[in-house]
This record gives sequence, structure tokens and C-alpha cells, in this order.
Amino acid sequence: MAAEVIYGSELAQSMRDEMKNEVLDLREKGIIPGLTVILIGDDPASKSYVLGKQRASEYVGVESDLITLPDSTSEEELLSLINELNNKEEVHGILVQLPLPAHINEQKVIETITPEKDVDGFHPINIGRMMTGKDTFFPCTPYGIIQMLKSKDIKIEGKHAVIIGRSNIVGKPVGQLLLNENATVTYCHSRTNDMEKYINQADILIVAVGMEHFINGDYIKDGAVVIDVGVNRTKEGTLTGDVEFESAKEKASFITPVPKGVGPMTITMLLHNTIKSAKIHNGVNS
Ligand code: GUN
Repeated sequence: MAAEVIYGSELAQSMRDEMKNEVLDLREKGIIPGLTVILIGDDPASKSYVLGKQRASEYVGVESDLITLPDSTSEEELLSLINELNNKEEVHGILVQLPLPAHINEQKVIETITPEKDVDGFHPINIGRMMTGKDTFFPCTPYGIIQMLKSKDIKIEGKHAVIIGRSNIVGKPVGQLLLNENATVTYCHSRTNDMEKYINQADILIVAVGMEHFINGDYIKDGAVVIDVGVNRTKEGTLTGDVEFESAKEKASFITPVPKGVGPMTITMLLHNTIKSAKIHNGVNS
């Protein structure tokens, strides 16, 4: 059986079109959703992500402000900038592009962004809200994955979801969101023994390790749903995922490609969170 490919790019486009209309309505009420992105240093991958965020913001009508700072920026300077943005009424979302230079404490930065503007959903308060099943800003990549599953009516409840990777940005929160949807969740990581054993039991397999073709079709269960979060640059300069697409496609029932898979959904959920924040800040319901 060859899997159906879930193109996140298509879902992202239709969600962005809906958001565009929603933002038009908000603008008529005098509400302009505002996002400020802070980029430190000149890592090419980070620059390219940030550019994608700027373009998508413009498309849906979110006012996006990019602040670029040199590698030499001190932690103190960054924290004071965040505090300024926390107090700016027209800013509804603050995103500091990760990773940060080594001399800046990432966790301190995350905790300085007020939870009310934490559109990444990385603040411990928002993580706690997610863990206790409350509504909040959910981390964008995990939230996008849930949307992709739902867009194909893929049943999550009662299914065994196996997550490969335990990062704070993807692995841990996607497991939590799947648990909130009543999946049974297993986390695998670099210290897991006999990982194949778990991969083989996965109804939903989420791979987020950042290693080119870490998984191939061999151990994937027939009919599994395979979500590839990896974005790796090949020797030839093209992008590829953590899953060897062609062999995995033969086993899976659904599979996401790289590119055009999860990536576009991450940015889309960031816009969703920013619009949600603008509505909350202005007392607009739903
Ligand atoms: N770097 C890679 N992914 C992300 C993300 O989702 N948010 C932020 N702030 N930085 C990232």
C-alpha cells in the first residue's frame, strides 16, 4: 500500500486564507495583530525561517516587525528589549528566534517574555497550562501537526503515538498534545534501547531528531501515520527529512513530505497564536 501524502503546504494555504479574512474583520474594528520577531546573529537557517515568518505575516495582514541584533548582543540588552516589548500595547506576540548565541541563557529569555505574548508557547506557565489541559498558546510545530492529523480525519484517540526526539520545541510538547487527544504516548530518544521495537508498534510515528533519513520503511508498521519534522540540508544543498520517504511511503497509510510538510504549518500556527493574542488583548471573543 502506498501512503497518502499530507501536504502541510496546502493546509497552511487554506488556513492562511481564512486568517486573512479574519484579520480584515479585526482591522475594521481597529485591531491590528502585531508580531515582533527578534533575530540575533546571522545563522543562515534562522534567517531563512524568519524571512518565511515575515512573508506569511504580510500575506495574512499581521503587522510583523523584525529586530535584528548582532551576535555580540548581551543577555542584559536582550532582556531589556523584551521587557520593553512586553509593555508595548501594539505588540501581541514576541518571538525570539532560537538557537541563541552561547553567552545568552535561552531559558532566561523564554521566561522573560510575558506569557500573554508568548506566541511560541515556550514559557513554563503556558507549558503548564497545556499539560493540565487548559487552553493556551500551544507550541507551533506540535500544534501544526495536530491540525494536519485532524485535516485528514486521522483518529488519535486510543492510538499508540511514538515520538522520536525529546526536544522542548517539538518532541515533548507534541507528545503532550497527543496525550490531550487521548493517544497512548511513548517517547524515544538517543538513549532508548531497541528503538525499532517501539517504532514497529507505532500507529502514529512522529520523527523529530534532525538526522537525515534516520528512519526508513523497514521498521514502520503497515498502515502507520508518519510525520517527519526533520529539516536537513543534503550534501547537494536540497532539503530532506528524518525519514527516508520512498521506503516509508510503501508501509504508511499517511506520510508528510519534506519540504512542503510540517514546516509551513509551524509558521501558520504562529500567525494563529498572534491573532489569538490580539483578540484576547482586545477583549474579542473566539
Ligand atoms: N527555532 C526553530 N524552531 C523555532 C520555533 O518554533 N520558535 C523559535 N522561537 N525558534 C525556533
